[in-house]
Amino acid sequence: MDQIIVTGNGPLSGQIPIAGAKNACLTLMPATLLSEEPLTLTNAPRLSDIRTMTTLLQSLGAEVQSLQDGQVLAMSSHDLTSTRAEYDIVRKMRASILVLGPLLARFGHAEVSLPGGCAIGARPVDLHLKAFEAMGAELELRDGYVHAKAPVGGLRGGIVEFPFVSVGATENALMAATLAKGTTVLMNAAREPEIVDLAQCLQKMGAQIDGEGTSEITVQGVDRLGGATHRVVTDRIELGTYMLAPAICGGEVECLGGTINLLAAFCEKLDAAGISVEETPNGLKVARKGGRVSAVDVTTEPFPGFPTDLQAQMMALLCTAEGTSVLEEKIFENRFMHAPELIRMGASIDVHGGTATVKGVDHLKGAPVMATDLRASVSLILAGLAAEGETVVSRVYHLDRGYEHVVRKLEGVGAKIERVKEQ
Ligand code: UD1
Repeated sequence: MDQIIVTGNGPLSGQIPIAGAKNACLTLMPATLLSEEPLTLTNAPRLSDIRTMTTLLQSLGAEVQSLQDGQVLAMSSHDLTSTRAEYDIVRKMRASILVLGPLLARFGHAEVSLPGGCAIGARPVDLHLKAFEAMGAELELRDGYVHAKAPVGGLRGGIVEFPFVSVGATENALMAATLAKGTTVLMNAAREPEIVDLAQCLQKMGAQIDGEGTSEITVQGVDRLGGATHRVVTDRIELGTYMLAPAICGGEVECLGGTINLLAAFCEKLDAAGISVEETPNGLKVARKGGRVSAVDVTTEPFPGFPTDLQAQMMALLCTAEGTSVLEEKIFENRFMHAPELIRMGASIDVHGGTATVKGVDHLKGAPVMATDLRASVSLILAGLAAEGETVVSRVYHLDRGYEHVVRKLEGVGAKIERVKEQ
C-alpha cells in the first residue's frame, strides 16, 4: 500500500486543472444501459471508481473503451448479456446501485447486489426501491440481492415523492422514468449539478425531462433512447478541495474550470473566513493574503447548501482559524472520522453526535495519520500542507477513488508532497 508524505512548505502559487466530476460520471456511465446506441463521455476523470463502474458495465456485456488516456469513455450497450450485477463488483462501490434503474426500465427485470461503499454511516437504498415501486415494479430482497421486476408492458409513470433529498435515488428514478410508460413526477428531487448534468445527457439521448435543477422533475416516458456525446460537468468537490489549499497555507491559486455557481454556499463561507475568491475567464482564483483565517460555522445540506463532501476539508482549514467553529453534519451520520486524525496533528476538536466544535489552534504539527474514507483522506493532506514538519498519510487507496494526480496537481503549485510505497 502507498503512503503520501506532505511537508508544510509555505504559500502556494500557480494553477490547478480541475477534472470532470466523479459523481456525475458514475451516474452518466450507467445511462448507457438505457440505449442500444453508443454513448460517449468526454472530460471523464481517471479514477479507480470509474474503473470499477467500467468493470461492472462490462460484466453486463456492455462495451466500454477508454480513450485519450481515460478522458473519453466510448460505451455501447447494444449486446448486453446479463441483467445481474454481482456482489463481487458492487461491494466495491455504492454507486453500483445506479445500474438498477436503467436495467429495469430497458429489460423489465434486474438483479443487483446490495452495495457497500464508504464507511460513512448506514447509507441504505430504500428510497431508490420505493421510487421503482411507485413506477409499478415488484421488488424482493433475497440472498443479498435486490430482485426487481417491472409490470407486463414495462415500468409506468407515477408520482415519486422522496421523504428527504437523495442524490442517488433521484438519479436512479430519473433514468428509469425516461423509458416508463406515461408521465413520472419526482417530488423533493435532488438539485445537485450532477443531476442537471445527467438530465442534459439523457435529453441529448432523446429523453423528455423538465424541471432538472429544481425539486420537481417531470419526465414524459419515451419508447426508446438514442446515442449521444456528452461532456462531464466539472467536479465541484475536487474544485472546493483545491480551493482550500491556498486558503490553508496561504498564497494564490487559480483552479481551472471552476465557477462560483457550482459552489456558492462554500464560497460564501470562504469569504466569511477571510479568503478571497474571484471568477476569472479560466476558472476561480483563490487567495489568502493576511494572517489567520476567521472561524465560521458550517452546516452541511443538500445542494445548493454546503456540500457534505467538503465538510472534512473545511474542518482542516478551521483547525487553525482564529476562534471557534461549529460544524454540523446533516447528511451522513458518522462522518467525522477525520477528527481523531486531525487531533493527532494538534487540532482541538470535540465531536458530539453530528456536531463538531473546532477551537482554532495556532498551528498544526505533522504526524502519521490514517485515511478512513475518500474525503477524510484529502482533508489530512490539506492539513499536512499547513502543518509544521512531515505528515504521513497511509491507506491512500481511498484517495485514488476520487482524486486523479493529487501529488502532481499540488506539486505544480509548490507543495512538498510525494507518494511512496509503505515501509
Ligand atoms: C451521493 C454521492 C456522495 C455524496 C452524497 C451527498 C455519488 C456516487 N455519491 O451519495 O459522494 O456524499 O451524494 O452529496 O454520487 N438515504 C437513505 N435511503 C436511500 C438513499 C439515501 O436513507 O435510499 C440517505 C443516506 O443515508 C444519506 C442521505 O439519504 O443520509 C443522502 O444520501 P444520498 O444523497 O442518496 O447520497 P448518495 O447518493 O449515496
